[in-house]
Amino acid sequence: MALILGIESSCDETAVAVIDGAGATLAARIVAQRIASQDEEHRPYGGVVPEIAARAHAETLAPMVGAVLEEAGLTLNDMDAIAATAGPGLIGGVMVGLVTAKALAMAADKPLIAVNHLEGHALSARLAEPALAYPYLLLLASGGHCQILEVRGLGQYRRLATTIDDALGEAFDKTAKILGLGFPGGPAVERMAREGNPKAVPLPRPLMGSAEPHFSFAGLKSAVMRARDAGIHRSEDIAASFQQAAIDCVIDRTRRAVERAHTPASPVTALVVAGGVAANASLRAALTALAQEAGLPLVAPPPKLCTDNAAMIGWAGAERFAAGLTDPLDALARPRWPLDPDAEPVRGAGVKA
Ligand code: KG4
Ligand code: ZN
Repeated sequence: MALILGIESSCDETAVAVIDGAGATLAARIVAQRIASQDEEHRPYGGVVPEIAARAHAETLAPMVGAVLEEAGLTLNDMDAIAATAGPGLIGGVMVGLVTAKALAMAADKPLIAVNHLEGHALSARLAEPALAYPYLLLLASGGHCQILEVRGLGQYRRLATTIDDALGEAFDKTAKILGLGFPGGPAVERMAREGNPKAVPLPRPLMGSAEPHFSFAGLKSAVMRARDAGIHRSEDIAASFQQAAIDCVIDRTRRAVERAHTPASPVTALVVAGGVAANASLRAALTALAQEAGLPLVAPPPKLCTDNAAMIGWAGAERFAAGLTDPLDALARPRWPLDPDAEPVRGAGVKA
């Protein structure tokens, strides 16, 4: 039994979980968890306001730790380690979570584990699917990141692809804004797309067919804007056509990465999708077909483990704790923290990692 307290505060969800690293099933592994969304606070601004997010984390987090421990019927002293997201993310929020974790670790004399938020997403599939073994191919698609990584082991990542402009979740969020669907945008676009015709509006598929498996979504977003301005299409048809174009790009790019990374000489065990956009049912269906074509199982955590949560942070902490990897109390909060620091910058890439 390795009990880990997990804390997540890198964007607009405040989340706490108690994880049992020795649990044999997903249900046994998540002892207790809570998530507080800040959607209402950010909605008037149409996006996440970092200052508001940090203040909300500061207000919500400490009482939530108490509530989750109580729900678990455990105390801080029962924990084997305290794990918190230390980046990448909005620095104010990351600092609230990390400093809270440090204080708890000091007070209870427990080790601290500074978790990379992206590693949390990357390992969420192993939390959900106990049989999933390294190495696996991971499509990580969230609001801030769109990458394909070979996950070779704990802390061992090879980046095969990244976006040269917008992340996939960002493209969904911007499309939602263009269509006046509000915030958060991804789920709203998905809902509206169900009522539309995905072939109604001709939209580009940037980088489709190109040799490297990288992504680009900025041109698609501009085309969505032009389609709206034309004033001749139903919003439902624009949403459906956007979603189809985005998914076509993702599938083409992921197929290219599978060809690269899954070879007879060095096979991977599975195709895995994680990050907030992995909650999208149409994307999951398209990836299921691609995995089948490649002769690989598709592992997709339940949607609630795809969007930001503390269970994945606690689980990454549990894997690190089992490997003897803990961090000193002066561990840094990092706004940027790539999983594969050796990856070459991509030509045409903006600031996004
Ligand atoms: O992983 P996540 O919760 O936070 C980040 O670390 O970014 O991902 C949030 C992103 C947002 O862009 C959101 O619009 C998108 O995931 N998202 C979706 C869906 N649910 C969340 N995008 C498309 N379809 C969804 N159902
Ligand atoms: Zn995330």
